Amino acid sequence: MQHLPTNLRLLMGAGLLILVLAGIGVYFQTEQSETDTIPKEGETRNAEAPLQVEGIEAQIENGIHVPTGLIAGEGLSLVIAHCTACHSAKLVTQNRADREGWERMIQWMQRTQNLWDLGEQEAAILDYLSENYAPVQTGRRPPLTNIDWYELKE
Ligand code: HEC
Repeated sequence: MQHLPTNLRLLMGAGLLILVLAGIGVYFQTEQSETDTIPKEGETRNAEAPLQVEGIEAQIENGIHVPTGLIAGEGLSLVIAHCTACHSAKLVTQNRADREGWERMIQWMQRTQNLWDLGEQEAAILDYLSENYAPVQTGRRPPLTNIDWYELKE
């Protein structure tokens, strides 16, 4: 660096600054567009309207949608669109239930929390939830087989 003329170094510095500022700008713009999907008080979303969730593929790492922590799978974009509008996806990822259990939670939110009618997409959302967030098996481990006993030596 030392051998570069001062004005060239200044130019590189300015270029770097612009890159950083542009990065910050893009970050805040994506934050903004996420909040745009939240319906206003008393407003309901038309479940038939196409949902604008773009760039999901690029945000998946090791089978997890990084920004939300949701498991990647069929129906992910629907769940991001409908189920992260009011609360964090953590409420979803921290819960487990079978299909009926998820259906009950959705109906409870519709009754009490102003969740909109999910229309024809409800089936696909329930498929996703019951497949990826099914109850954890907490049964006893199966008995050991093929144990290779060894003799204790004095
Ligand atoms: C209209 C707003 C809204 C939308 C959209 C919404 N929820 Fe909720 N949900 C809530 C509220 C409010 C709560 C209660 C939060 C609390 O207790 O802190 C809640 C709670 C939950 C809980 C916790 C329930 C419990 O028993 O603790 C789960 C799980 C959940 N939501 C899943 C979902 C799923 C799945 C979707 C998408 C189908 C969804 N939510 C969409 C408003 C919404």
